Amino acid sequence: MNVSVNEPDLLGNEKKYLCECIDTGWISSEGPFIERFEKGVAEFCGRRYGAAVCNGSVALDAAMLALGLEKGSEVIMPSFTIISCAAAIVRADCIPVLVDSEALTWNMDVEQIESKITPKTKAVMAVHLYGLPVDMEPLLKIARKYNILIIEDAAEAIGLTYDGKHCGSFGDISCFSFYPNKHVTTGEGGMILCDSDELRDRCRALRNLCFVPERRFVHRELGYNFRMSNIQAALGVAQLEKIDVTLKKKRYIGARYQELLSGVKGLQLPLSKTDHADNLYWVFGIVLDDDVPIDAREFQKRLQKRGVGTRPFFWPMHEQPVFQERGMFGGGGEHYPVAESIARRGFYIPSGLALTDEQMEYVADQVKAVVEELS
Ligand SMILES: Cc1ncc(COP(=O)(O)O)c(C=O)c1O
Repeated sequence: MNVSVNEPDLLGNEKKYLCECIDTGWISSEGPFIERFEKGVAEFCGRRYGAAVCNGSVALDAAMLALGLEKGSEVIMPSFTIISCAAAIVRADCIPVLVDSEALTWNMDVEQIESKITPKTKAVMAVHLYGLPVDMEPLLKIARKYNILIIEDAAEAIGLTYDGKHCGSFGDISCFSFYPNKHVTTGEGGMILCDSDELRDRCRALRNLCFVPERRFVHRELGYNFRMSNIQAALGVAQLEKIDVTLKKKRYIGARYQELLSGVKGLQLPLSKTDHADNLYWVFGIVLDDDVPIDAREFQKRLQKRGVGTRPFFWPMHEQPVFQERGMFGGGGEHYPVAESIARRGFYIPSGLALTDEQMEYVADQVKAVVEELS
């Protein structure tokens, strides 16, 4: 059997709405699905406004630029995340300042934030990873105490809640990705959510080349073409219609893997819940204990040979050559031990919506077989 790491579910109204785009000729970013999708996501998350863009990485870029932080402002973020987070901060002429992760949730360790605050700190980028949220309550307290903004990267977390409140509703500005492995996909796509008219207008201007409203093709500043197409938004609207079923399936997959893999020696499985959230299992991550004699990469190779697709965990920002070469993060001198360890020992197994019970059982059997090979 071969089980790929992700297969999306496109069996709702996706085809019907795509045909509508073709039949009506609305295929650019000017079609009616854009606004429907923006309103739908904003409403789902309890926000006033959404601005659809062409992927989650540029959502972070636009969010950073829309905030207009002074050059040289510091933004605290986890070392363990995708490069899009740090890149958006750097491209906005700001400085990423890192904290380590929690060993059990793999999210940023909020307790480390206060010690990193300086007079230049203007924001924290909170990134919800792999199905569990950042510990928002203490983070919001810190933000209020020091008057700093929160940029929320909820790329992986549509539908996830913290104390019953949706991820994507906590940030001064919040971002999503709709890549095919996300709970709502548009193929490629992203969105920025906010409640402020000013930020909404900034994001919408930045995504559309910063045309001035009075005269098209006149520009007072440089924007980007970050627009989402009506075709992508059509997929998004169809996906959003069945989000409840999607989230139920993600939780089912997570719970089933927990049953199948619990008690297997040498594996750290995701927490099924924290005091504030039930895991939504965006993906089902596994971290190999220190006494497992191979690293994640070798474990993944062995699974691949058995027909099981996997992906590695993120690689920490302080270990990225592109940043070290710029002398950032002490030019390689800074260390974040949890991030370093989970990057080397973590990976995730097939977690897509199209997974069948039989496939999950097969995957779990192969994981167990690799563990047995090692003993
Ligand atoms: C936490 C996080 N932020 C940002 C992104 C970037 O999104 P995209 O791939 O749509 O550019 C991803 C992508 O998977 C992500 O996982």
